[in-house]
Amino acid sequence: MELFFSERGDCFHCHVGPEFTDDEPRNTGLYTVYPDVGLARITGKDEDVGKFKTPTLRNVALTAPYMHDGSRKTLREVVEHYNRGGEPNLNADPLIRPLGLSEREVDDLVAFLESLTDTRFIANPALLPPR
Ligand code: HEC
Repeated sequence: MELFFSERGDCFHCHVGPEFTDDEPRNTGLYTVYPDVGLARITGKDEDVGKFKTPTLRNVALTAPYMHDGSRKTLREVVEHYNRGGEPNLNADPLIRPLGLSEREVDDLVAFLESLTDTRFIANPALLPPR
């Protein structure tokens, strides 16, 4: 948790507030050339290529695979992407940069993401799909 909310981990500028999202379109440097151009499909602007709305992280351990195209199979793969600083991309958000986290710190961030699972919510019969 400390790492998530620190300048070193730097997750909290985008994954902010009780829903862990700023609801803003951002480019996280997932690709150098995005097969799906994201926001640019709607705006037609070059600067919007590869921008996708920051998703919530609530119950994220239950919603694999990850990113807009499901290209990351595990939370560890997602955190490793951030730790590397993503792929070179002109539209990448300035917050996306090599983080220099140790293996242990990557594990710590994954553990924090797993702790965002609300077991009461997912076990609530009133919220299950109708039978
Ligand atoms: C520049 C803003 C930004 C920063 C900084 C950022 N994220 Fe994200 N995060 C996003 C966006 C946008 C996506 C969706 C990207 C996509 O789908 O291509 C995302 C996706 C994710 C996902 C996948 C969620 C899902 O349901 O697919 C996880 C997990 C995640 N981020 C965790 C983190 C962690 C941990 C950090 C810090 C190491 C972090 N993020 C830093 C904006 C950010």
